[in-house]
Amino acid sequence: MDDHPPTNPSRRKFLDYLLGSSAVATLGAIFYPIFKFMVPPEVVEAQQNSVVAAKNAEVANNTGKIFKFGSKPGIVIRTETGEVKAFSASCTHLDCIVQYDPAKKSIICACHNGVYDLTGKNVSGPPPRPLEEFTVNVKGDDITVTRA
Ligand code: FES
Repeated sequence: MDDHPPTNPSRRKFLDYLLGSSAVATLGAIFYPIFKFMVPPEVVEAQQNSVVAAKNAEVANNTGKIFKFGSKPGIVIRTETGEVKAFSASCTHLDCIVQYDPAKKSIICACHNGVYDLTGKNVSGPPPRPLEEFTVNVKGDDITVTRA
């Protein structure tokens, strides 16, 4: 003998549908943020070919200045004789930012004592390659740097 009253099949279907969809929504709420966290966003980076690195007055003789070239650092240097040069400021060893050393008249990397001369050539320490050199154009008050 059956004590249970007969259930309405459409009501049972509706409850199954409701439970199923809430289970899917719960799983989505759990896994979507995890998925979004694990997949890095696509970074659209426009390659800049030219940038005003500094104003003329900002770079005195025998000094250097770090500037931003797109998402990478660059360094503009005015030598003792007044010649303006520009290089990538990312050390070719492990990407530390290099700096100009007025006492040594060279570009140095403080991370592992890498040294570059004023042509960007690696002369001592661990850097394996020269720094990328940029073309410099001094016009009016602007020092413009262009990637080759
Ligand atoms: S990162 Fe520059 S010498 Fe190592």
